[in-house]
Amino acid sequence: MIGRIVLSALLMTSSAVAFAADSSGDSVSGKAIFQHICQNCHSAEIGINKVGPSLWSVVGRKPGTVPDYSYSEAMKGNKSAWTAAALDAYLADPRGDVHGAKMFFKGLPEPRDRADVIAYLTTLK
Ligand code: HEC
Repeated sequence: MIGRIVLSALLMTSSAVAFAADSSGDSVSGKAIFQHICQNCHSAEIGINKVGPSLWSVVGRKPGTVPDYSYSEAMKGNKSAWTAAALDAYLADPRGDVHGAKMFFKGLPEPRDRADVIAYLTTLK
């Protein structure tokens, strides 16, 4: 419960950060959002899995394929590559999207925050 409250507070901060950014996806703002929110569970470095799998080079690759990470069956069963559109749908509602129930995170409700984070993820390669 506390975790949820903290995440909500962080989400509000990130929206404020993203507010000043360009709507087409700003990787600098996205990095700040990543560091505030996603990094609690994900590393941006290759080979480092936390509660969630490493997100290094996630854009364009198949879901559920980071070695040594124990994914949910739903995520392993998802065969379509992580395009920007797929990431956008997943991050809007991680627990409602077909990709899986394991990511205990309520998502990024602001389209601009998602665009920024996806722009940042695109730089991880
Ligand atoms: C509370 C922890 C938590 C937070 C916060 C979180 N995630 Fe996750 N994430 C997970 C877990 C756990 C999984 C594995 C899901 C599964 O196996 O179904 C996951 C999976 C993913 C995947 C699929 C990775 C793959 O290898 O296919 C992506 C992409 C992702 N998260 C992006 C993000 C982004 C971007 C953020 C921040 C906006 C974020 N996550 C925040 C825990 C989290």
